[in-house]
Amino acid sequence: MTGKRITIFDTTLRDGEQAPGASLYPHEKIRIAKQLERLGVDVIEPGFPISSPGEFAAVQQISRMVSEAEISGFARAMKEDVDSAIRATADAPRRRLHLFVSSSQIHLDFQLRKTQQEVLSMAREMVAYAKQFVDKIEFSPMDATRTGDEFLFEMVEAVIAEGATIINLPDTVGYALPEEYGAMFEKVRRFVRGGDKVAYSAHCHNDLGLAVANSLAAIQHGATQVEVTINGIGERTGNCSLEEIVMAIATREGALGVQTGVHKEHIYETSRLVSRMMNFPLAHNKPIVGRNAFQHESGIHQDGLLKNRNTYEIMDPANMGIPRSMIVLGKHSGRHALKHRIRQYGADLAEAQLDDVYSEFKALADASKHVSDEALLHLLDDTVDGFISPYTLIDLQVITSSERARVASATIRNNLENRIATYSGTGEGPVEAVIQCMKQAIELPIAFTDMELHSLSSGERANGEAAVTISYDGVDYRGVGIDEDIILAVAQAFMSACNQAVSANVRVETDRAATGPA
Ligand code: KIV
Ligand code: ZN
Repeated sequence: MTGKRITIFDTTLRDGEQAPGASLYPHEKIRIAKQLERLGVDVIEPGFPISSPGEFAAVQQISRMVSEAEISGFARAMKEDVDSAIRATADAPRRRLHLFVSSSQIHLDFQLRKTQQEVLSMAREMVAYAKQFVDKIEFSPMDATRTGDEFLFEMVEAVIAEGATIINLPDTVGYALPEEYGAMFEKVRRFVRGGDKVAYSAHCHNDLGLAVANSLAAIQHGATQVEVTINGIGERTGNCSLEEIVMAIATREGALGVQTGVHKEHIYETSRLVSRMMNFPLAHNKPIVGRNAFQHESGIHQDGLLKNRNTYEIMDPANMGIPRSMIVLGKHSGRHALKHRIRQYGADLAEAQLDDVYSEFKALADASKHVSDEALLHLLDDTVDGFISPYTLIDLQVITSSERARVASATIRNNLENRIATYSGTGEGPVEAVIQCMKQAIELPIAFTDMELHSLSSGERANGEAAVTISYDGVDYRGVGIDEDIILAVAQAFMSACNQAVSANVRVETDRAATGPA
């Protein structure tokens, strides 16, 4: 049995872009719009056309380019806004107009300085005016959740009478509780004349961390559309997050009885793209897409996970395009997890060897909080006879400049061939210069796909942590480096990711050689 289909209305490029520091160049908006279409959202709100000529042009270009998703033209209940939104979206194969005006008394008194009758007339007139150009009209009484029932019903009834086809009830300031928000939809549908003839939409902000819960409550009380943003980006604490609500619906489909058309396998790449372009790092514990969402450090959890992923994960990260579950090595890790990681380096330790490494590892974890891959490789080199990590970074020098190209030189030992060489490289930044010279040493066609940098403490002598993801032969490898010198941390992280890739490859070759041709 398949559930009712919920319309995913993405407003990352409009409400999301209103987040402080998140503004985009037009070409970045276009890139994100393409990705949203690939993700399979139903509606894209590409911006606020009247707000600037660049914004108008971006909305126009996106309207011309997007063929699958419907485009929403956003406008205040004012003629200039409506005209601008109508023109900007004219070439979209499918479009709607999204009109809004405040309805709460506090907004009327202090922001608009208008009476209820005045805003009612604005709403009515602008819906009627827009209806000449577009049939599908979405109307939002802004701050609906702080508007009394009586005036809210009056306004919704008036715009339905003029031809609004979708009623969006925004929790503009993230004030509502799930039960109240759900009840509001129930009441409007039941008590407003014409309320049973239109579709309903939820638009929730996250000031109390309830945006997803409130949107789900709205769905349970008749909303068939949710307005969302990638990574939950938006004003203040943001909007309902696309990835969270989509995965809640998918994971609990049986309980909720609804579904979406989002292609979940593109969730992670979309989240990364938006995070980068909007200059918006994600909290480690952000559901679905945060760094820790599928990482496990406790020994008990790691043990369960290695036996059966479902013991401690309710979703398979691979379904959202998230690189495999990561075991994080730290003082809570157990032997099973350590053995698993060491296997990723191509080594199969005998129990006695593992005992030795495990006690050294615990001492290291107690002393230094985080155990980087680089540190673990050193430990294996020192503790296990015959273990060699493929490469060792012996020395790194970088010359940086504000005017000229950055220059790096790296001395690397190829342990498998017992050869030391020094490589040099240049780049627009020090990281590019370093990676350029290190890639010369690693003879595999490795792609540097991702990098995250964090300060692990405060002050100018803080340790920096770098996590680098590389891709080789369709598989991602992630290495972590920690040092007071952040560039050295990046180099170590890259080196350990490469060591994992090379080791995994050498092991596969060895296994094939041992078992003969398939
Ligand atoms: O939060 C809000 O009220 C809005 C509306 C204008 C839809 O973004
Ligand atoms: Zn909003």
